[in-house]
Amino acid sequence: MPPKTKFFLFISLLLPASMVTEPPDCQVQQDKDQNIPPLFASGGTPLEMDVRIIVVHNTLEDPCVVNTSQIVANLTSANKIENTAIHLKCTFPTPVVIRPDPHPKPLPEREVYMLQITGCAFDKSSIFALLSLAEFKTFSFLGSLVTGGDLISLKDVRCDSFQSIVSFAFVNFGSTNESIWSLFDKRDSFENMAEISITNTHWLDLPENLSSIFPNLQTLDLPNNGLQVPHSNFPWTQDTVYLPNNLSRTGYMHQHYADSQSLSIPTDIFRRSMDMKKNNITDLSMFEFHGLIHMISLQNNSLRSLGENTFSKILGIQNLDLSVNNLHSLPIGVFLELSELRLLDLSSNDLSVIHKDDFTPLTSLHRLNLAKNKIEFIEDGSFSSLQELLILDLSANSIRTLSEHSFPMKSLSLAEIYVDENPIKILPSFIFYVRGLKIASFERTHIAFENFTGLFT
Ligand SMILES: *[C@@H]1O[C@H](CO)[C@@H](O)[C@H](O)[C@H]1NC(C)=O
Ligand SMILES: *[C@@H]1O[C@H](CO)[C@@H](O)[C@H](O)[C@H]1NC(C)=O
Ligand SMILES: *[C@@H]1O[C@H](CO)[C@@H](O)[C@H](O)[C@H]1NC(C)=O
Ligand SMILES: *[C@@H]1O[C@H](CO)[C@@H](O)[C@H](O)[C@H]1NC(C)=O
Ligand SMILES: *[C@@H]1O[C@H](CO)[C@@H](O)[C@H](O)[C@H]1NC(C)=O
Ligand SMILES: *[C@@H]1O[C@H](CO)[C@@H](O)[C@H](O)[C@H]1NC(C)=O
Ligand SMILES: *[C@@H]1O[C@H](CO)[C@@H](O)[C@H](O)[C@H]1NC(C)=O
Ligand SMILES: *[C@@H]1O[C@H](CO)[C@@H](O)[C@H](O)[C@H]1NC(C)=O
Repeated sequence: MPPKTKFFLFISLLLPASMVTEPPDCQVQQDKDQNIPPLFASGGTPLEMDVRIIVVHNTLEDPCVVNTSQIVANLTSANKIENTAIHLKCTFPTPVVIRPDPHPKPLPEREVYMLQITGCAFDKSSIFALLSLAEFKTFSFLGSLVTGGDLISLKDVRCDSFQSIVSFAFVNFGSTNESIWSLFDKRDSFENMAEISITNTHWLDLPENLSSIFPNLQTLDLPNNGLQVPHSNFPWTQDTVYLPNNLSRTGYMHQHYADSQSLSIPTDIFRRSMDMKKNNITDLSMFEFHGLIHMISLQNNSLRSLGENTFSKILGIQNLDLSVNNLHSLPIGVFLELSELRLLDLSSNDLSVIHKDDFTPLTSLHRLNLAKNKIEFIEDGSFSSLQELLILDLSANSIRTLSEHSFPMKSLSLAEIYVDENPIKILPSFIFYVRGLKIASFERTHIAFENFTGLFT
């Protein structure tokens, strides 16, 4: 944005409402509806889905106004549609004011309404005006929250629509300094809210009593927010939360939501997650996670140390991502209690030795990623108890030899092993004995073909 425009914008936002001239109407255009497969099913029947894309062609110069009736125009009660997603996009990050229609036409009945906003700058009252359109179940806001609400009076929009929302995501696009929590009345309690994800706010101001505001929260994802410690109180409820209205995820949705994360959970509950990717959490030697959590990510935090008890009070964790950090070693017994863990990612760290007992307790492990470390030595027995292991990645390390005593030789599960980019010279013979092995990759190693010609004669 050129500086001149920024200046003008700033002034116009600071002016009291009475001095601001009526902003012009935005140009609104309905894009071709998108076809995507059903995301949810009710009683086993997939809910037909339509995605309504509304593009607001605003400009760099002035805030402009959209009437809510323009957003829902043409939403017909088409016979089979049970799930409507409204996706509002703005072409510029200049504030857009959403003005509620005082005589709104009722929207067609739907099992599920979803709302997504991309690239828009809205003030609080505009968001409330949008949310008052329907009882939205999910709300994703990829944009910026601007201060104000002065262009229309907040009392004109009554909004308790956050009460119906089960999943709330905010990805901050802006540099404005309005707290996202100002959307929630802190005296209230949002019992249906199961998932909150806040990304890229840089000065995260978590309310102190988050647990009374969102008593049933299952997921608190806070990637890229400059956090130095994880939230110490989360999760405060151990109760499983089911999807609303007896809904379940379809196979398509469940693949994205759970399978792709190596999670094995029912299709009708929310996953329990703490995503703290790209924060500034460097030392967990004294920190103890606790309670029922399915997945934790600490990826890309410059994390240097873990404590013996960092993970010992967690129940049911299936996916632990510690990749892209500075871990030199693992405390003895750090994974001792994690018998349900299915995926462990330690890639891109500084580990140099794998000890016999590091992974022994992880009897459910499906995927172990140790790529891009400095591993020179793997003790005998390191992986041999991992009978469920499907994929082992040891690529880009400093491994010279691999002993068969490290591996689960009798495993019927192990299907893929990657040893690429290691100075290993001899092809380990165990790869010919592990029965289920489909891929054994040794690219860019020091193995010469001459050394195993004997096997084929
Ligand atoms: C509604 O549909 C009509 C006909 O398809 C179209 O001309 C009009 O622009 C649509 N209205 C909005 C607000 O998208
Ligand atoms: C919104 O538009 C509808 C129809 O176009 C109109 O009846 C209504 O008065 C408008 N509301 C506002 C607040 O401008
Ligand atoms: C934003 O506001 C918070 C408190 O409301 C304050 O602590 C923080 O320093 C502010 N950040 C900037 C960049 O102004
Ligand atoms: C949360 O704290 C605020 C003040 O900090 C208080 O007004 C509010 O009642 C609390 N909310 C709940 C649900 O306890
Ligand atoms: C969910 O299903 C049960 C029976 O399977 C039924 O008793 C209950 O009313 C349903 N709840 C909703 C919200 O549809
Ligand atoms: C990370 O935290 C340290 C203090 O522990 C601070 O000095 C540093 O500036 C922070 N880095 C970022 C990128 O926030
Ligand atoms: C780690 O985070 C930094 C800062 O956000 C980013 O520039 C870098 O690409 C990330 N690295 C990886 C491997 O994701
Ligand atoms: C192949 O194996 C022989 C005997 O074990 C060894 O002397 C030779 O160095 C190996 N070749 C390479 C390229 O490692």
